[in-house]
Amino acid sequence: MKHLCILGSTGSIGVSTLKVVAQFPDKFRVRSMTAGNNVALFAEQVLAVRPDRVAIANKDVIPEFKRLASGWNGEVLGGVDGLVEVAEESASDYVVSAIVGAAGLLPTLAALKKGKQVGIANKEPLVMAGPMMLAAAKEHGSTILPIDSEHCAVFQSAKAGDAKEIRKVVLTASGGPFRTSTKAEMLVATKANALKHPTWNMGAKITIDSATLMNKALEIIEAHFLFDVPYSAIEVWVHPQSIVHAMVEFSDSSIVAQLGLPDMRLPIQYALTYPERLDGALPPLTVDKMRNLTFEAPDLERFPSLNFAYDAGRRGGTAPAVLNAANEQAVSLFLNDQIKFCGIFDRVGEALAAHTEKPVDSLETVLEADRWAREFVRSR
Ligand SMILES: NC(=O)c1ccc[n+]([C@@H]2O[C@H](COP(=O)([O-])OP(=O)(O)OC[C@H]3O[C@@H](n4cnc5c(N)ncnc54)[C@H](OP(=O)(O)O)[C@@H]3O)[C@@H](O)[C@H]2O)c1
Repeated sequence: MKHLCILGSTGSIGVSTLKVVAQFPDKFRVRSMTAGNNVALFAEQVLAVRPDRVAIANKDVIPEFKRLASGWNGEVLGGVDGLVEVAEESASDYVVSAIVGAAGLLPTLAALKKGKQVGIANKEPLVMAGPMMLAAAKEHGSTILPIDSEHCAVFQSAKAGDAKEIRKVVLTASGGPFRTSTKAEMLVATKANALKHPTWNMGAKITIDSATLMNKALEIIEAHFLFDVPYSAIEVWVHPQSIVHAMVEFSDSSIVAQLGLPDMRLPIQYALTYPERLDGALPPLTVDKMRNLTFEAPDLERFPSLNFAYDAGRRGGTAPAVLNAANEQAVSLFLNDQIKFCGIFDRVGEALAAHTEKPVDSLETVLEADRWAREFVRSR
């Protein structure tokens, strides 16, 4: 029996995690969960799952949550401190990190410092503070299991050889809704166009990140930290069908890949049940889905995000945190109709160019770089 804390249960990954957990009542018990704002869904989840305690980031909505979840008598915490407290609690031994953006950094880091197993979907903290998170995991004996489908695929494929035999890691990208659009079409892209992902059904921020390929950019840095591969050995191939999630090339030129339907329940289940594989309710991949698998190189001129990632990653220090925060801020401005789609590229590029990176010697240095980048983007 694994005892779970689910950070971000009301999000796309959180909802899929609860579906996986519901299939294996003798394997998992949810001890705590967190939400940001969506108390209507959260109350429904809490009444169904009945955790011991919960935390809600926005303290103002707690009274409404208590009204909606009357009949459940667990403890309700609020704010960032509340999220950190449930992530650290001793009742759970496995934390699913599924908050979106930098908001997940403090609770995820707290869980690592308590020596828990942590299934990480929330890639932004790894981008911001990867070395710090890995050092915390090492020092406190915690295990990080990737939930991001590409990294889960690398994790599985890498088992076919020795780490020192890995020559290259290939992350696949669907290419998003603008894969075949011209630059002129991208310049006038609307929010509705950008939110229409061709293969995956996800939260708004990652859907926009997929449209800009910034999601893949963040994943390059995530892969560098998780698998200790140099940036020169990480490639992105556009694969519109989203069936092959990642590949690992070994020193003899063999490539080992992991395949599956584009459904996050698969990597979530693997990360939760690892090292076991359990029969689940996931649909199998059938031959008709395999007929037309295609791969192409990304267009770096229309999608400069990948170059931003290689640049920020190689510069290191606070540069990846600036990349991440500038992007989060720019995506938020785009979703609030304050900038155009391609304005996201401009803001992130300008922030990286204006930033002088510093070594990451403390959490405060990371948070200061994050604040600086957000303010820089807002001020443009
Ligand atoms: N969706 C996918 O298929 C997918 C795949 C791979 C990786 N990921 C990664 O997984 C993470 C979650 O993605 P998602 O698509 O599930 O996002 P989402 O649907 O937008 O959900 C985000 C979750 O974070 C909570 N949240 C938002 N702001 C918060 C804050 N300031 N403090 C505390 N909680 C907050 C939300 O709460 P409320 O809704 O209650 O406000 C919700 O529970 C992201 O880092 C994403 O890159 C997602």
